[in-house]
Amino acid sequence: MLNQVKTAVFVSGGGTNLQAIIDASARGELPSVKLSLVLSSKAGAYALERAKAAGIETAVVERKALSQEEFESRVEQILAEEKIELIVLAGFMSILSPAFTKKYENRIINVHPSLIPSFCGKGFYGLKVHEAALAYGVKVTGATVHFVNEIPDGGKIIMQKAVEVEEGDTPEILQKRVMERAEWKILPAATQKVAADILKERLS
Ligand code: GAR
Repeated sequence: MLNQVKTAVFVSGGGTNLQAIIDASARGELPSVKLSLVLSSKAGAYALERAKAAGIETAVVERKALSQEEFESRVEQILAEEKIELIVLAGFMSILSPAFTKKYENRIINVHPSLIPSFCGKGFYGLKVHEAALAYGVKVTGATVHFVNEIPDGGKIIMQKAVEVEEGDTPEILQKRVMERAEWKILPAATQKVAADILKERLS
């Protein structure tokens, strides 16, 4: 469709961020986004069930079964077949090579569960991010959506939202609060913003 951007969501796990995108789309909040594909790097990811329930096409490319090159070449083939123009990393736990991120420059976005540049980069993913935030003793954390480049969590920031750390928080409690109050809000909003910008670019 001319007025929508064909978008793939990359996942590896539970897919609550994918669900937030699906729900926002169902509410009509993502008019520029066509959810064309959900691609998982893990065969058993629950995110795949969420995609199927929403009637979105799915693909699995097992990261651990392949070399980085083989993995990315298979992924690229699928993206080309589906004519994907925007990639949203939503709990996607594999690092993409500089060659891949260069090829899709300004066309890949990621959600990270901290206020970048805190608690980010190699080794900071999932619960580990919240463990590090609590260990440091920060009183405010949050989430960031950013473009993906060759530096892990190093691309240009698109949106951020702060969330307070509360007395007695465990990593699990903090993770849930950051998801509910920040990630599930800014990831759909940033996806719509980037898609709308791509459409504007296309028309200019
Ligand atoms: C989310 O908190 C996401 O921000 C984080 O993993 C979780 C996935 O949950 N991603 C990273 O840490 C990437 N560096 P989900 O599968 O339920 O969306």
